[in-house]
Amino acid sequence: MPQHPVASARPTPPGLRPTLPTWAVLSPERLGHVQRVAELAASWAESMGVPDSERHRWLRAVWLHDALRDASAEDLERWTPSTPGPVELKHGPAAAARAKADGEVDRGVLDAVRYHSLGLAEWDMVGRMLYAADFLEPGREFDRAARADLARRFPEDTRGVLRAVARRRLAHTVESGWPVLEPTFRFWNSLVATPAPR
Ligand SMILES: [Fe+2]
Ligand SMILES: [Fe+2]
Repeated sequence: MPQHPVASARPTPPGLRPTLPTWAVLSPERLGHVQRVAELAASWAESMGVPDSERHRWLRAVWLHDALRDASAEDLERWTPSTPGPVELKHGPAAAARAKADGEVDRGVLDAVRYHSLGLAEWDMVGRMLYAADFLEPGREFDRAARADLARRFPEDTRGVLRAVARRRLAHTVESGWPVLEPTFRFWNSLVATPAPR
């Protein structure tokens, strides 16, 4: 995987700002993914009428979430010395730790970034939005029509779409024979503990 800083690779349109942190390390393909997540988040923010300050939190989390996705294993380890588990699950915690060192103090933004691969029962709207947008952005090749439909429904049925996304992600984890980590099953249980929206 090519590794290089990409913060200046292409300008971020004004409607999608803020932008990548200067310390981001990700491939051009991954940057395309992050930009599509930002576009989806911005479109949801607009149709849901969220205030600018909240929209800014959403976009900060989006640009941070995969910022270290292509960083070296050594760098990831350096930022997450106490995080157990496979290296693929370290880019979120590493980016959150780096963002915190950089001055990010918003707990909701940091938790959204830190747990974006796993889910978190205690998430506020930033984490929930990012979890869904990361999965529903249109560049992923699988299940395009169903995912596009979920993306369209998110603004009016946030809870139902979030549950559908979590169900698919959890099923994939189980079908792959991977362990279901504690934050993930707690997140799932929190989603099904409340009645489905009418
Ligand atoms: Fe990620
Ligand atoms: Fe992502």
